[in-house]
Amino acid sequence: MCGIAGYIGKNEASEFLMDALKRLEYRGYDSAGVAVLDKNGEINCVKSVGKINALEKKLKEKNLSGRSGIAHTRWATHGHPSEKNAHPHCDCEGDIYIAHNGIIENYKALKSKLIQAGHKFKSETDTEVITHLIESHFQGNLEQAVLNALKHTEGAYAIAVISKNDPGKIIIAKKSSPLIIGIGENEYFIASDPSATVGYTDKVIYLDDGELGIITKDGYKIISIIDSNEIHKDHCKVDLDVSEVQKGGYDHFLLKEIFEGPEVVKNSIRGRIIPDEGLVKLGGLDVLDQKKLRNINRIIIIACGTASYAGLVGEYMLEEYAGIPVEVELGSEFRYRKPIIDERTAVMAVSQSGETADTLASLLEAKRKGALTLGIVNVVGSAIARETDAGVYNHAGSEISVASTKAFISQMTVFALLTVYFGRTRNMSLTMGKRITEEIQKIPSLIEKVLESDGQIKILAKKYSGYKNFLFLGRKYNYPIAKEGALKLKEIAYYIHAEGYAGGEMKHGPIAMIDENFPCFFIVPNDSVYEKMWSNMEEVKARNGKIIAIATEGNEDIKDLADDVIYVPKTLEMLTPILTAIPLHLFAAYVGIELGCDIDQPRNLAKSVTVE
Ligand code: M6R
Repeated sequence: MCGIAGYIGKNEASEFLMDALKRLEYRGYDSAGVAVLDKNGEINCVKSVGKINALEKKLKEKNLSGRSGIAHTRWATHGHPSEKNAHPHCDCEGDIYIAHNGIIENYKALKSKLIQAGHKFKSETDTEVITHLIESHFQGNLEQAVLNALKHTEGAYAIAVISKNDPGKIIIAKKSSPLIIGIGENEYFIASDPSATVGYTDKVIYLDDGELGIITKDGYKIISIIDSNEIHKDHCKVDLDVSEVQKGGYDHFLLKEIFEGPEVVKNSIRGRIIPDEGLVKLGGLDVLDQKKLRNINRIIIIACGTASYAGLVGEYMLEEYAGIPVEVELGSEFRYRKPIIDERTAVMAVSQSGETADTLASLLEAKRKGALTLGIVNVVGSAIARETDAGVYNHAGSEISVASTKAFISQMTVFALLTVYFGRTRNMSLTMGKRITEEIQKIPSLIEKVLESDGQIKILAKKYSGYKNFLFLGRKYNYPIAKEGALKLKEIAYYIHAEGYAGGEMKHGPIAMIDENFPCFFIVPNDSVYEKMWSNMEEVKARNGKIIAIATEGNEDIKDLADDVIYVPKTLEMLTPILTAIPLHLFAAYVGIELGCDIDQPRNLAKSVTVE
């Protein structure tokens, strides 16, 4: 949530800063701003409400020249989107500017003290208190002022600060929100994540909590916020390609990412399957003491949003085939409960970004309670990846669209791999191990077949885009897909309301809503609950509800009940959700386009939810 960037070096700062803001826009996009220190020692700041292109237009009129600066793209928490609330924020005199991602929880108390001391506030944000705190501690040395100011703050922050009275440096600091330094040739880049520095440098330092960086054009120094001791850190090489952060011929990242499905699954399984032995090899877990892994007698999956639905699919897979009891908990709930955890419990965080605040906090809580912590994470080097004892990377590539699609496909794929991984050290037979791994390897080509329905789904999106409400129903492995289908439609085609339910729950309430104006998606592949779902379809039909079915190829009977059918190829029941999710992702995308929604950056959302 919120993206921050900074530059200091030999080139015009605004070039990188604007590029970085565009790359970080997925983190928040209600307003943006940039502040640059010019050669006369003045800081010039331009802000704009709305997307980055609005800021870009403004910048064309007011050229910001200078070799150091900071920038911010905002997802509003305190105060509505406006120029006055947009970052960077400055102190009373306009000498110090700050870009901040996170929430200062004690801002109210700090603000009233600062006002009493004579500080003049210009915005409604929590961030502005940091600027005034720095101002009140400033005695000529910016890092010292920032260090002193941060001692008074509670909450989360990633900050980048500049001052005209201590020029030639950018001070950065981190607690809970992500921040990196990109190392160039006589230039340094600061960003919320490495997607912003792709094409500029592949050498990156991940700042850890409690660290403060002093960045000049000649180098950087990292110190501890607690005791000011210097911290020596090595840089990592980031393996990202410019093409990953571009649309690659598609009009929208969302469509590009849905169509990447086959490649995503190939990348998630590459080198991880030993077909003849029906085994799965996961390097990230092999580093653990195998006795410890075999000892696990309960798994708690923690995740939020779409990742939690992948977790539900994982629960069904792991219980049915690996025989391990599994529970799925939302990060936002788990962190405030009193979960019962012992040394044989593994807590597994699932997260595309690896930054989601609730998932991360839950993971840390589980760690404190002595659980073995595991992760399924897409973003390499992210906070969750670094905090877990061990884990599996998705290798899905960058997901730019705010709605998570390809990461979801890959999370379910990784759960299928994990099922074999855990299952084969327990009761799963060689035959079953071979059967599942053979079928997983077919998934990329099966997804290609599903994607051939693209044209049909576009037509259906047109046909149904006038409806205001939808119900999505599925059972067993496809119950989480019903939840996912509804979430995607709400999120991407944001003028439509949708609910995702377990088929069996329909008559316990939602059936009351059904009439000819309430279309229902039925996710009904040929599986062990097909007959049960058929009865649910009959019940909807009897109430004149419209039915769109996602069914297995060759099922002609379904046409007796369904108004429209989208077919998916046959696969093992446990793998069906990987296929059935895709038409629902496409449907949401095309309905969103029909309704004129910004499908890559839907209103009110942000990709990485780094605040509670
Ligand atoms: O980065 P994460 O996987 O931890 O994110 C979790 C959710 O915030 C995310 O899946 C969200 O629900 C998406 N917008 C869904 O498309």
